[in-house]
Amino acid sequence: MNKRIERIVSYISSKDSVADIGCDQAFLSELLAKKEIYSVASDIKENIVLSAKKRINNDLRKYISFVVGDGTENIPDKIDTLVLSGMGAYTILKILGNSKKQYKKVITISNNNHDILREKMLKLKYTVSKEEIILEKGKYYNLILFVPGESKYSKEELLIGKNHQNTELLREKLEKDLNKYNKIYELSQNKKILNNINVIEKKLMNY
Ligand SMILES: C[S@@+](CC[C@H](N)C(=O)[O-])C[C@H]1O[C@@H](n2cnc3c(N)ncnc32)[C@H](O)[C@@H]1O
Repeated sequence: MNKRIERIVSYISSKDSVADIGCDQAFLSELLAKKEIYSVASDIKENIVLSAKKRINNDLRKYISFVVGDGTENIPDKIDTLVLSGMGAYTILKILGNSKKQYKKVITISNNNHDILREKMLKLKYTVSKEEIILEKGKYYNLILFVPGESKYSKEELLIGKNHQNTELLREKLEKDLNKYNKIYELSQNKKILNNINVIEKKLMNY
């Protein structure tokens, strides 16, 4: 079973009315259906939605509404929880920026730019509630649960996040990031990279 999908499910309760935006093969909705939780599985590509629909067995299909659309455009009003996973930060921000409503929960696993995502989500009136690093097939993913609200983040919170639920995996990821940033800094002498190195070193010293 896909670890990322399993961890996303752990942030969803039967009280939530969920839509998975960019559902691809609808693995998340399938797992929710196994727990008898209804969801909307939506993707911008019609052929993807059709193949996901075919893939899911009849008993589970009754728990899933399949939708084709760009972002939240065809998502029913009753939906209060969004999942946006496996997309870049700017795609996630664009989808939420175009969306007319404020959701109770937004669960993201962005492919990149988590610092930009945290910062720009404030403009959309969402703040970080919890975060978790997930290790799947040797790759680290950063899940963020956003809820409506306002915050002021420190430099560390912007770059690394806050309320991390798995601090051991976070430490492993930070060590890897530090290595990467050191290599980039050697070549570029870029000030932002140096700032990232300092923030991560300080965090690792406190472990
Ligand atoms: C890499 S897949 C991620 C699949 C799954 N969510 C996951 O985390 O494994 C990204 C999916 O997002 C869809 N997508 C990209 N932009 C979208 C948009 N604006 N609205 C809806 N779906 C979108 C793509 O068609 C693709 O199926």
